[in-house]
Amino acid sequence: MEPLSYIIPSEAEMLSLGRCLALHLTPGTFIALFGDLGAGKTALSRGIGEGLGTYDISSPTFTIVHEHNTSPLLFHFDAYRLDTSDELYDIGFDDYISQNGIILMEWPERVPDALPKQRLDITIRGSGMQERIVTFTPYGESYQSILDHMRRDFPCAYSE
Ligand SMILES: Nc1ncnc2c1ncn2[C@@H]1O[C@H](COP(=O)(O)OP(=O)(O)OP(=O)(O)O)[C@@H](O)[C@H]1O
Ligand SMILES: [Mg+2]
Repeated sequence: MEPLSYIIPSEAEMLSLGRCLALHLTPGTFIALFGDLGAGKTALSRGIGEGLGTYDISSPTFTIVHEHNTSPLLFHFDAYRLDTSDELYDIGFDDYISQNGIILMEWPERVPDALPKQRLDITIRGSGMQERIVTFTPYGESYQSILDHMRRDFPCAYSE
């Protein structure tokens, strides 16, 4: 499916992108956040959290998951410290999935076989004080429609 990319010049703009995206997320949405250390995965998650009504997003690296009591519920995972998908299931991944919240997963490449086929991949390129290129790739019709909404509501996209 056709990806959608943005140039994001600042952390403030990354938060705006996340807030806008949050408005189009329905219960059960799964977002895989790809990008190197310091790319801005947690910054984007903070924006999504703000859009859902929480200002309490921090990196879940040490606890693997933070649960936020928003509506829908928000489960923010960071798989950086995991070696296998089994470790994710050990901490109750199936239970989190069955709660039909919104799932954000940093470092999804650590647990490739746990990722649902229908999902939104977001890849962030760039680091340090550079601008970021943020690319949304949808897998599944409902995820395609999230991109349709973003094209309309956050229109400064560019195509590669
Ligand atoms: N355009 C930008 N968008 C997002 N963050 C930016 C941007 N420019 C600079 N930054 C800075 O980059 C850093 C991004 O850190 P963040 O914790 O979000 O990265 P991360 O991808 O979650 O890293 P980790 O893999 O360690 O979890 C922050 O210090 C932020 O201020
Ligand atoms: Mg992070």
